[in-house]
Amino acid sequence: MVRKIILVGYMGAGKSLIAQKLSNHLKIDCYDLDDLIENRLKLKVSEIFKMKGEISFRKAEHEIFREYIENHETFVMSTGGGTPCYFNNHIYLNEINVVSIYLKASIETIYHRIINEKNKRPLVSSISNDELKEFIGKHLFERNYFYNQAKYKIDVDGKTVEEVASEIFSIL
Ligand code: S3P
Repeated sequence: MVRKIILVGYMGAGKSLIAQKLSNHLKIDCYDLDDLIENRLKLKVSEIFKMKGEISFRKAEHEIFREYIENHETFVMSTGGGTPCYFNNHIYLNEINVVSIYLKASIETIYHRIINEKNKRPLVSSISNDELKEFIGKHLFERNYFYNQAKYKIDVDGKTVEEVASEIFSIL
């Protein structure tokens, strides 16, 4: 059976780690959309933002996301935190062979997970630690509409990667 498992959610929700876990367990290919973009453009995500601008990043993200959904069969993919929010990418979350899952993390969880990794994340690298929580709250408010287009939603707060993965196995 063709099944494209697509994980969406904010930065720090654990999309990449959980995708790896699912891929190992289900023995299907694992794609990390940020890695695919970096390999294609031969630049790190932060360099793409700096040198080419966010719009170029979003265009590459859209093209590669579409390409993988249209041309690959069974796989699990961790997307970037903004993937469903641009170029109508969220429409793909409801395609017939797609199992889309929103990994929902609270502002608090996200804050603690990303505060020490701000330099890897261009959207928050210039936000001061004092303003980070408020930024995440506003950003999540804007993005929730898109994340909620996923077919399934799993709360990740306080759960290990194994616990989240086993919840996902139960819906597959
Ligand atoms: C982004 C999230 C990042 C990466 C880029 C933009 C976003 O991915 O795609 O920095 O818009 O939220 P992760 O969610 O894997 O950190």
